[in-house]
Amino acid sequence: MLPRRDASPALELLRPATDGDVRALAELWVQAFPGERTVADRERELREGGPHGGLESCWVAEDGPRVVAALRAYALEMYVHGVLFPTMGLAAVAVAPDRRRRGLGRRICTEALSIAGARGDVLSILYPYRASFYRALGYTLAGELHRYRFAPEALPEYEERRFVRAALRVDRESVAELYERVALRTNGMLRRPPKLWAFLDDPRWYAFVYDAGRDGIRGYVIVRHRVGRSPDRRALQVKELVAETGEAYRGLLGWVAAQRDQWPQIIYDALPVERFAERLTHPQTPGTRQVRGLWFETARVLQGPMVRIVSVASALTPLDWPGPERFAVEDAQIPQNEGPWRIGSGRLVRREGRATQAVTVAGEGGPLTVSVAELTARFLEWHAGDPLVVGSRPTHSALPAVLAQADRAPAARPFLLLEVF
Ligand SMILES: CC(C)(COP(=O)(O)OP(=O)(O)OC[C@H]1O[C@@H](n2cnc3c(N)ncnc32)[C@H](O)[C@@H]1OP(=O)(O)O)[C@@H](O)C(=O)NCCC(=O)NCCS
Repeated sequence: MLPRRDASPALELLRPATDGDVRALAELWVQAFPGERTVADRERELREGGPHGGLESCWVAEDGPRVVAALRAYALEMYVHGVLFPTMGLAAVAVAPDRRRRGLGRRICTEALSIAGARGDVLSILYPYRASFYRALGYTLAGELHRYRFAPEALPEYEERRFVRAALRVDRESVAELYERVALRTNGMLRRPPKLWAFLDDPRWYAFVYDAGRDGIRGYVIVRHRVGRSPDRRALQVKELVAETGEAYRGLLGWVAAQRDQWPQIIYDALPVERFAERLTHPQTPGTRQVRGLWFETARVLQGPMVRIVSVASALTPLDWPGPERFAVEDAQIPQNEGPWRIGSGRLVRREGRATQAVTVAGEGGPLTVSVAELTARFLEWHAGDPLVVGSRPTHSALPAVLAQADRAPAARPFLLLEVF
């Protein structure tokens, strides 16, 4: 017989971690996330705090005197559609090995969402260990990167590379300002206070800037050296490439290409909108064969971040949301999101009535009810001028129309989360 689900709501509840929990937390996390970090390392990190938060971001669940589960609820700020949203970064979710698969993990994550809502977070973001676990909690996968491995000779040595130079300490402020300007036009980038730039002090990272003189710094690239035992695994890996103009983008790529006499291979994670394959002389990943008839591999698809709307009203209100006037939301964790919602003159104005009433829109056949995960996906894909209908994803039959408009319609903002936490 399967063990009974642990349904008692009062048995274990999250409370803020205190100094007295440091040892227990370190031990729980070493068991949950085995790796190089020891209990002592984790204790030190907890006391000193990391770039995204310290002990104040930790929450624990106890059974009697014993800590049986814990998580971090980082207070982050994320740019989406040019708006900086308070965002809970959910991380380090861990349940003691003898308490697993009884519903405790889901319960503490649900509680974390209440904590986020109560402190004013509008969105939440995380990296999942298994997407389905967090889908059931209302999160949706966001963003995609294409990992290219290529010989630097495959990339043109764009002549704008002459404006690329090593970054200096004094450039940090300009680099941070450039980052914020690009973040306003991208979804998913976090606001970076100085402590989130501290990684530049790490000697494993090397930073270069695009500085054509007259307009100041318009792009930067941060790379690391990957030197394995075998010489053919040596690679120059691009950690971040942020460019504000086409010249800066080409300049930085040209700089990468110019490293060809040292590095046999470049590793670069491109956004799909970069259409990076078109820049390479032949975009086939070295060492791979044709994999489907005459098709070849160009890149690997990477996914990771998952996003969830924590407050429907606060997420949608700053946008000229072109969705239907009324819709309902299904949200098993946050009942305040359920609606029905009414949009007045392009702005979300209020939640009306009881959550359980489904809303029917005349002529559209059926109640327009959307899960919070789907609403989040549409929210991220939204762009000005989007003929968005909440609750219906684009179908194949809609594709020709979308393609015909492609050059006129403003593109959806790419999603790019650079931080790992
Ligand atoms: C990931 C982790 C936190 C999950 O904790 P947990 O308490 O086992 O989580 P839950 O019990 O809520 O859910 C786990 C699964 O067990 C299932 N489950 C819950 N109660 C159950 C029961 N009585 N019988 C059978 N299955 C049950 C849940 O439905 C869920 O599966 P689903 O997602 O397919 O629906 C835990 O395994 C852990 O600490 N892992 C190591 C650290 C880690 O990877 N953390 C994640 C970081 S993102």
